[in-house]
Amino acid sequence: MPATTLDTIVSLCKRRGFVFPSSSVYGGLGSTWDYGPLGVELKNNVKRAWWRAVVHERDDMEGLDAAILMNRLVWKYSGHEATFSDPMMDCRACKARPRADHVFAAQKGRDPKGLVEINAAIDAKELVCPKCGSKDLTQARPFNLMFRTSVGPVDSGDDSGLVYMRPETAQGIFVNFGNVLDTMRRKLPFGIAQVGKAFRNEITPGNFTFRTREFEQMEIEYFVRPGEDEAAHEAWIAERKNWYLKLGMHPENLRVREQEKHELAHYAKRCVDLEYKFPMGWSELEGIANRTDFDLRSHSRSAENPDAVGELKYFDQEQKKHLIPYVIEPSAGADRATLAFLCDAYEDALVKEPPAEDTAKLRELVESFARSVGRREGMAADVKQRLVSTAEAIAAGLPGTLPQLIGLMEDSDAASIEVMKKVRGVGERIAEEHTRTVLHLHPRLSPLTVAVFPLKRNDARLVDMARGLKRDLQKAGLRTVYDDTGAIGKLYRRQDEIGTPWCVTVDFQSLEDQTVTVRDRDSMQQERLKAGELALSLASRLA
Ligand code: GAP
Repeated sequence: MPATTLDTIVSLCKRRGFVFPSSSVYGGLGSTWDYGPLGVELKNNVKRAWWRAVVHERDDMEGLDAAILMNRLVWKYSGHEATFSDPMMDCRACKARPRADHVFAAQKGRDPKGLVEINAAIDAKELVCPKCGSKDLTQARPFNLMFRTSVGPVDSGDDSGLVYMRPETAQGIFVNFGNVLDTMRRKLPFGIAQVGKAFRNEITPGNFTFRTREFEQMEIEYFVRPGEDEAAHEAWIAERKNWYLKLGMHPENLRVREQEKHELAHYAKRCVDLEYKFPMGWSELEGIANRTDFDLRSHSRSAENPDAVGELKYFDQEQKKHLIPYVIEPSAGADRATLAFLCDAYEDALVKEPPAEDTAKLRELVESFARSVGRREGMAADVKQRLVSTAEAIAAGLPGTLPQLIGLMEDSDAASIEVMKKVRGVGERIAEEHTRTVLHLHPRLSPLTVAVFPLKRNDARLVDMARGLKRDLQKAGLRTVYDDTGAIGKLYRRQDEIGTPWCVTVDFQSLEDQTVTVRDRDSMQQERLKAGELALSLASRLA
C-alpha cells in the first residue's frame, strides 16, 4: 500500500534521518526543514540524476552556477519588482491576512481573473474571512514575494544597498547568456542548466517540503530560433516527463496539465505543468514554459532599458543576421521532486500471514473502533464517514489489510478515539512482525546502495570479511554501510525502510568459497555471488 497521508512520509523522514524541522532546539522556524544524513544523499542523487540527464547525456547543453545575490536591476528589468506578488487582504474583524485569490477560488468555485475582479467581489460583500466569517475586508493588495537584504557594512536606511535573495535561478542564466555563448562557441539551439537555491516569502508555505520559503530549483533555459520554439517546447515536455518515469515514478501518478491563459506568468506564451499525485492531491512538480524572447530582450539595452550595457543577441550565420532567441524553460524543484520520489516509492506491505487468533482479535478491535467512531458526537461528518468506512473495510479484509491498518493507526483524526489505544496495542505488534515498510526507490536515487552484514557479530572471521567487503565496495564508488547491530531479518527491515536496494550477508560458507548472499529489496529474493565480483555486478545494475 503506498503512503496515503503526508504525515506517514513526514514521520518516516524524521524517524530515519531524511528531514528534520529546522532549528528545532529553539522551537523551529515555520516551514523550514533540514535534510539529514539520508535526506541529503537522496536529494543529491536526484540533482545528480537531473544533471546527468540534461547536461552530460546531451550534446546541446552547458552548466552554470550563478551567484544568489545579483544586481537589483536584474529584478527590475525581469519584471519581478513590479509583478512577483500575491494578492493579500486584511480582515478588519479578526486581523487575519489571507490570500485573496485563494479565498475567492474557495468561495466562488473558480479562480479569479485578476485583482480587479477580486476587489469587486470584496466590495459587493461576496467574500467572507475564512477565519471568522466577517465581510469587513480590506481591498486586496499585491505583496511582493522577494526577500530583501542589503549589501555593505551598514544599512543606510534607504534602498541604496538593496539586493534581493533570488526568487528563481533562471535570471542568473539569462544574464550569463552572452558569456556562455562567447566562451563555449555554441550555435542555436542550445541550453544552459543550473541547480541552486531560490527564496520566496511565501504567504502560505506548507505540506512539508512541498512549498517552503527557501528551496532548490533545477532549471534549464533552452535557446532556439524564433519559430522553432513550439516544437522545442513539445520535445522538452516529453523529455522531462520521461525523466521521472525512467527513475521509476508510477505513470498513473504523473500527468501533464496545460496552464490556462489567466494562470500564465507575465513572461509566458504557454506553460505546461507536470503534476504529481501527492497525498494531498494533484500538484505542480515542474513547469515547462515558453518564455519567448521576453527575458533576453528585457536585459538588452533599449529605450525601455537604458541601464543594460549591451544586447543579449545571437548572430545567425545561416540567415546572416542578429536575432534574439526564444527560450523554453523546464523548471523543476529539487525538493518537490525528492518529496514526489519518496511518496511514490513508499509501501507498507504484508510479508507473512499472522496466526488466525491474532487476526480475529484485531478484527474485533477494529470493528469496535468503527462502532465507537459512529457513536462519537462533535466529530465533523466527513471525518466520521471516512474513519468508519476505512475501519470497516480494514476489518473485513484482515489480514490482507494489515498495511492499511498502519495508515489508520497513524491517522491523527483516529487518535482521539479511546479504543484506538487498544487497536494500537495489538496492531503495532502484529504489524511489526508481519509487514514491512519499504521505499522502492530507483537504485540510483537510494541514499545507500549496499548494506553489508556478518551473519554473527561475535565471529571475528565473519566480521573481518564483511568489513573488508564494505571497504572494497566503497572504493568502487558504491555508497555502502556495515551493520551488525541486530538479527539479519531486523537489519533487512531497517534497510528496506530507507530504500537500500541490496543487502549482502557474509556467512560461514563465505569463509570457505568466498561467495556472499545478496538480497534484493523489492523481490526479497536472495542469490549467491562471488565476493570479488560483487562491486562490478552491482555497479552494472546501477548504470
Ligand atoms: N523560473 C520559473 C519558475 O521559477 P515556478 O513555477 O515559480 O517557475 C518552478 O517554479 C518550480 O520550482 C516549481 O515547479 C516547483 O517545483 C519549485 N518551487 C517553486 N516554488 C517553490 C516553493 N515555495 N517551495 C518549493 N519548491 C518550489
